Amino acid sequence: MQTGDTYNRGGLIAFVFSMSFSLLFFVYIALIHPGVDLKEVPDEARVEVSATASSGAIETLDVSKIEKMWVPNEKVIAYGQGIFKTNCSACHGEKGMGDGPAGKSLVPPPRNLVEGKWKQGGTSQELFKTLQTGIPGSSMVAFKSLPAKDRWALVQFIRSITKNKSADDAKKLDTFGPTGE
Ligand code: HEC
Repeated sequence: MQTGDTYNRGGLIAFVFSMSFSLLFFVYIALIHPGVDLKEVPDEARVEVSATASSGAIETLDVSKIEKMWVPNEKVIAYGQGIFKTNCSACHGEKGMGDGPAGKSLVPPPRNLVEGKWKQGGTSQELFKTLQTGIPGSSMVAFKSLPAKDRWALVQFIRSITKNKSADDAKKLDTFGPTGE
């Protein structure tokens, strides 16, 4: 019997081999592998991320601090866009072009809010009233369930995207505004 056979030489070699392999693999993962780079994330996924980021910003807008929700304000428009996405885009489309998936089979069809004439007028006050009462005989229902401040934000958003903006009378709005609450 040779001394070499007193221990399992094949086993030792296999052990040393597998240990060094794991060690090399560890070194590779820890030090050499580049990992996942955000720059490699496909565009669609990044749009999602920025949409979440901007909706995060929307949530942080404290409308209770804004007294005159009808006075044009970039932050209110962005806030209104978020509300529009949730409540209106199914029919009116994300950009208000009247092409939302739920609006396809409606008669009359949802209005393209960017182009075309208003049935009930395009001043802030008139748009606000449309949201308050809806349009009888159509699937445009009243949105009185939304807080008045949210409806004002919607009015601002619509006026920011439409090509048919009717001029507002600021003084009249200041008297009408608080009564809309
Ligand atoms: C269930 C589908 C539906 C939803 C949801 C909806 N609308 Fe409408 N909307 C319509 C339809 C249909 C019309 C067109 C009615 C007509 O032509 O008589 C319309 C018309 C309008 C008009 C045009 C009024 C005018 O004077 O021409 C405005 C403004 C409007 N919607 C805003 C909104 C806003 C803001 C929301 C979300 C709070 C909303 N809509 C949600 C279906 C919808």
